[in-house]
Order: sequence, then structure tokens, then C-alpha cells
Amino acid sequence: MYNSVNENSSFEDNIPELDMAQLQKLLRQQAQRRPLFENVTIMGCGYVGSALAYYWQERGHFVTGTTTSWERVATLSELVSQVVLLKGDDASALESLVQGQDTIVVSVAPTSSAAADEDGYSNTYLATAKNLVKALEQAPRVKQIIYLSSCSVYGDRQGNWVDENSTIVPQDHRSQVLYEAEQTLMQANQENRKVCILRLGGIYGPGRELIRMYGGLAGMIMPGTGDRVINWTHRDDIVKAIEFARLNELEGIYNLVDDSQLTVREQVERVCYKYGLPPVYWDVSQPGRRGNSACISNQKLKAAGYELVHPQLQV
Ligand SMILES: NC(=O)c1ccc[n+]([C@@H]2O[C@H](COP(=O)([O-])OP(=O)(O)OC[C@H]3O[C@@H](n4cnc5c(N)ncnc54)[C@H](OP(=O)(O)O)[C@@H]3O)[C@@H](O)[C@H]2O)c1
Repeated sequence: MYNSVNENSSFEDNIPELDMAQLQKLLRQQAQRRPLFENVTIMGCGYVGSALAYYWQERGHFVTGTTTSWERVATLSELVSQVVLLKGDDASALESLVQGQDTIVVSVAPTSSAAADEDGYSNTYLATAKNLVKALEQAPRVKQIIYLSSCSVYGDRQGNWVDENSTIVPQDHRSQVLYEAEQTLMQANQENRKVCILRLGGIYGPGRELIRMYGGLAGMIMPGTGDRVINWTHRDDIVKAIEFARLNELEGIYNLVDDSQLTVREQVERVCYKYGLPPVYWDVSQPGRRGNSACISNQKLKAAGYELVHPQLQV
């Protein structure tokens, strides 16, 4: 904020304090020959998409955000420069959407009703990916695609380490769809247009706190040992990593998870302790719940220069 001018003070007294971090950021952008302000599109302005929209809108970009719901148009209009109502299976809508854009982020996820059935899953992820790749053929201005995928493509690794070079063998229809969507989008990667895929852990953050997910287990007896390793990604890190990918023109696949490779049991313990809730008891005589367990490496993204906002799980 600029200080109001005091007539009795000298000119130097009224020079506003320089925001060096902001200046450095601008210089960095210039050095990379990226325009200071871009036309950015966020396909799927949901939990993550809305936070990203706020971040970019505040920095002066022309932000287009999409939704599938009429009811959300008015709210989103207050957040972004332009709202577009569409679904990813509408090829002609996507052709119009990408025209004149510099960067496109794909942050779509099926609504709760569509998430339940296999067709809903394919229609959301695969149809969007295929139609976007096709639409990009007529949109030479687009320089960067950032696609939010999931570490669930790795499947169950019994707690072992995996990285971006690990072989993917999808174990169910959903992982298959997510993996195919990744591969489809990578087809759009070329010299003048980078495709970056961020594989996320479970998303948490403001409004999606761990207490909401684990609090209901307090005082209960759970089957098994709770030794599944579940990886998480804070919403703030997703916004920051997307910006990092845009500024650094990242291409290829990057895991984006925090440093805490904790078991479900350890996570639940931390939540119960923090909120003064009765602990959860694990009944080792019962078979535990099935699900993915893997330690996901985030070294590739760090080696590219990314620093996590929240390296440890925030309970
Ligand atoms: N949730 C997790 O823990 C998790 C984990 C790993 C990866 N991810 C990925 O992270 C990204 C962001 O997740 P999120 O939790 O922010 O998602 P979200 O809040 O559920 O938002 C999803 C957005 O996608 C839109 N959408 C739904 N179906 C669509 C379709 N057929 N075509 C186009 N848009 C459609 C929704 O439209 P409306 O505005 O009409 O609702 C909404 O704006 C997603 O790509 C998701 O797959 C999520």
C-alpha cells in the first residue's frame, strides 16, 4: 500500500517500501520471457481451482474459470474475470475455451453422483483430456498445460517407495482412467507447449481439515493395525506448485506430496491428540481395511527447485 503524502516530509520519506519479493518474481518472469499478465484458464473451479483462481486474479491475470453448475456461476463471477459453463465431453465448447489462452490448468473431478459410477469417471477425466488435446491443435498460443492427477495411479505398493519412474499397472477402473487421461494429455506436449502432470496425494486444507476426515473415528475400535501409508498434499502447495510449473515451464510428471510419510494410525493419533479426543484402538486380530499404501517420493519436484509450503502434515 502506498502511504499518503505528508506535506511536511521530504520526497524520499514518501517512497513506498519496495516489495522485493514481488520485484524478484517479476524479474524472474521477464527473464523467462513470459508475459507479466497471462490469459489463464482453470478447467474445474472447485476446491483447488477456486483457490488458484483467487491467487491469479489478485496478480492481474485474466482468469477464466469453468463449472458444470448454473448455481455456481454467480459465485464464481466474483472470483474470476470470466466464467464458462461447460462439461469436458463438449468438444466444441472446449475448442472455444482454449482460444487466446496462454496457460490451462485441468482440475476436474467428478461430482459426487458421477464419482460413484464408472461412466461418470470416464466422462469427466478421459473425455476432458481427449477433447482438450484435440482443441489444442487449433490453439497455437497455449504454452502450458498443467494437469492435476493423483498418486492413486501407483496403486497399492505395500508401503514401499515409488517415484515418477515406477512402472504403473492400474489395478482398477478408476486408476486406469486417471492413467489414460495422463497419457492422453502428454500427447499435447511439444517444443512450444509444455504439459506438466502433478500427481497429488489426498487434498486437504482450509475447509477440508483432517479433523473432518478422522475426527469421527475417535474412541472407536478399528480393524487391523492402521499401518497403511497415506500421502497428503495441502491446498496451498497445489496452488504454489502450479505457479511454479507455469513460471518454470515444467513438462512431464511430478509427484506433489508433503514429506510426512505417516501411517493412518499415526495420522489419527495426531488428530486425536491435538483436539483432545479419545484415542482410536486398533484390533490386530481383525483384517485391516484394504486400500493403497505407498511412500511417494517428491524428490523430482524438489530437485527442480520447488520448496514445500507445508512439508509436514497440518493437523
Ligand atoms: N480430492 C482429492 O483428494 C484428490 C486427490 C488427488 C487428485 N485430485 C485431483 O485434484 C483436482 C482438484 O480436486 P478438487 O478436490 O479441487 O475437485 P472439486 O472440488 O471436486 O472440483 C472439481 C471441478 O470439476 C468440475 N467438473 C466436474 N465434472 C466435470 C466435467 N465432466 N467436465 C468439466 N468439469 C467438471 C466441477 O464442476 P462444478 O463446479 O459444477 O462442481 C468442479 O468445478 C482434480 O483434478 C482431482 O482429480 C484430487
